[in-house]
Amino acid sequence: MAIQLKTAYEIEQMRVAGRLAGELLDFISRYIRPGITTGEIDRLCHDYQLHHQGTIPAPLNYAPAGYKPFPKSICTSVNHQVCHGVPGDRVLKTGDILNIDVTPIKDGFHGDSSRMFYVGTPSIQARRLCEVTYECMWRGIYAVRAGAYLGDIGAAIQQHAESHGYSVVREFCGHGIGRKFHEEPQVLHYGQAGTGLVLQEGMIFTIEPMINAGKAAVRELADGWTIVTKDHSLSAQWEHTVLVTERGFEVLTLSPGAPPPIPMPDRAG
Ligand code: MF3
Ligand code: CO
Ligand code: CO
Repeated sequence: MAIQLKTAYEIEQMRVAGRLAGELLDFISRYIRPGITTGEIDRLCHDYQLHHQGTIPAPLNYAPAGYKPFPKSICTSVNHQVCHGVPGDRVLKTGDILNIDVTPIKDGFHGDSSRMFYVGTPSIQARRLCEVTYECMWRGIYAVRAGAYLGDIGAAIQQHAESHGYSVVREFCGHGIGRKFHEEPQVLHYGQAGTGLVLQEGMIFTIEPMINAGKAAVRELADGWTIVTKDHSLSAQWEHTVLVTERGFEVLTLSPGAPPPIPMPDRAG
């Protein structure tokens, strides 16, 4: 099925929503320290969205087919949790790594972004995983331009992750986004260059690789949402929402506090 290209109006609205997602992550970053609970982080983000941004948290009560409604406003995934971690009473401690994934809705449009945070001082291994996963996301982004293939994105990410001995989670992918949280296409974080959908100017989708230090296999916890690595190895994820342009891409979820892009890798990778 054909992907709906965004109109100029929709792109402008998505720039606003994307910026707000980045600014929400900027806001919460100052609170990440040992002793805070993931539930407190959720509450801070929830209140900031409603009372400061005028945005609605898309995750709250989000219920795709086969899932019960997500009970919180953001996802917080700690250490071997891969994604969709449910905020609660867990107290963060030094050495933890934490993904915070936020999706504010502004005037009906979704901005979706996540970052890794260090709680206190991370181990060398944890830091490296987070850094390489960040590079994976950006290598995927650099593969984006009109005329490129969807498979180019996955191939760039997979090549970089595996060259460091890491594995790519297969069960979850990036996604088209706009008036809906999850739209076509599915953006796989592994694959073959030169295969799949041809990218067109005006497409908007997320790139959000989940990279494991150990094996790729994951399982779902009994809460029906939290995904963890089967082998309990650490997992990291970063996410941006990206617009396809004629010359390349525009990252819609950048904000003043976002870490800088990596330099563009040369074509040989
Ligand atoms: N934000 C996640 C994504 O990047 C989706 C979370 S769904 C939720 O696609 F219900 F867990 F919030
Ligand atoms: Co997403
Ligand atoms: Co997200």
